[in-house]
Amino acid sequence: LTNQIIMGIETSCDETAVAIVKNGREVLSNVIASQIESHKRFGGVVPEIASRHHVEEITIVIEEALKRADITFADIDAIAVTEGPGLVGALLVGVNAAKAVSFAHNIPLVGVHHIAGHIYANRIITEFTFPLLSLVVSGGHTELVLMEEHGVYKVIGETRDDAVGEAYDKVARSLKLPYPGGPHIDRLAHEGEASIKLPRAWLEEGSYDFSFSGLKSAVLNTLHNADQRGEDIEPKDLAASFQESVIEVLVSKTKRAAEEFQVRQVLLAGGVAANRGLRKALEESFSESEVELIIPPLELCTDNAVMIAAVGSVMFEKGKTSDSRLNANPGLEL
Ligand code: KG4
Ligand code: ZN
Repeated sequence: LTNQIIMGIETSCDETAVAIVKNGREVLSNVIASQIESHKRFGGVVPEIASRHHVEEITIVIEEALKRADITFADIDAIAVTEGPGLVGALLVGVNAAKAVSFAHNIPLVGVHHIAGHIYANRIITEFTFPLLSLVVSGGHTELVLMEEHGVYKVIGETRDDAVGEAYDKVARSLKLPYPGGPHIDRLAHEGEASIKLPRAWLEEGSYDFSFSGLKSAVLNTLHNADQRGEDIEPKDLAASFQESVIEVLVSKTKRAAEEFQVRQVLLAGGVAANRGLRKALEESFSESEVELIIPPLELCTDNAVMIAAVGSVMFEKGKTSDSRLNANPGLEL
C-alpha cells in the first residue's frame, strides 16, 4: 500500500493522544492533551479522574488531529489503538472511541500493545535493522526486548519489582518533589555529586532481569537515618547517587545483551528515555561499538499516539487487524 494513512489513539494513562502517521514513519499530526496538572495535587495518577478527562477530551483530540493533518476519516486506512497494558477505565475510552469511528466510517481496527508503541517511536527517526535490542524504561515497565522482525517481541529481561520510572517517582516523592518526579530527579542529579553509597542490583550471574525496589528502599533509609541523627543530606547528592546506580545497571546489562545477541541496533524507549544521564551514558557506552544506538527525541519518549500509529502501520500491513470484539486489556502481554 503506498501512502498508507494510520490514525493512532492512546489513552492508557494520563495523556489523551491522537496522531496521524503516513507510511509508518511520517508524522502528519501529533496531538496530546495532558492531564498532569489534574493529578499533581494527588501525587500520582488517579484512575477515575484519568477516565473522566479522557471522555471529555477524546472527540476534541481526534478532530484536532484530523484538522492538523488536513485530512478526513475517508483518507484513513486503519485506526490503531492502545488495547493494553494500562488503567482499564482509561484504556476503555480509547478503545471504544476507536471502535465507534471504525464502525461509523468502516475503517479497519488494529489493537496495539503500549510497549510496542514505545519501541516503535524510534522508527519515526530511523528504519529498523534486525536483530535489534530495545531497552524499555517507563513508569510501568523495565524490559530488554529482542526483535528479529517487525511485530515479534522476545522479552529477555524484566524488572522483578518496581519499574525504573516508578522508582524515580517514589524517590522524588520522598524528597518532596512534584509528580511526575523523574524529570526533577534528573535535573537535581546534574547539580549534585554521586557521593552517597547506594546498592546496585546485578542479580544472578548472566541474568538480564532488573530490581529497583532495594535501591528505592536504600534511598528512603538514608533519608530516614540522617533525619534520626539530625544530619543534613543534600537532595541533589542523593538524586545523583540514585541516578548513578540506576544508569550503571541499565547500561551495563544493555551492553552485555547487545553483545551476546549480536544485534545491529539498540533502541531506547519509554518515558525514562527522556533522562539526560541515561541518554549520555548509553551514547558513551556505544560510541566505539559497531552497534547503531537510536535514542528518540524527547517528545516521542513520553506517551503519545504517533508511536501507536507506527506499530499499527506494520500490523495492518501484516493483516493483523482486530474485530469489534477488541477490548481493553490492562494486563496485556507483549
Ligand atoms: O512512558 P511514560 O510516559 O508512561 C508510562 O507508560 O509509564 O513514562 C512515565 C515515566 C514517569 O515515571 C516519569 O517520572 C518518567 O517516565 N520520566 C523520567 C524522566 N522523564 C519522565 N524519569 C527520569 N528522568 C526523566 N528525565
Ligand atoms: Zn508509556
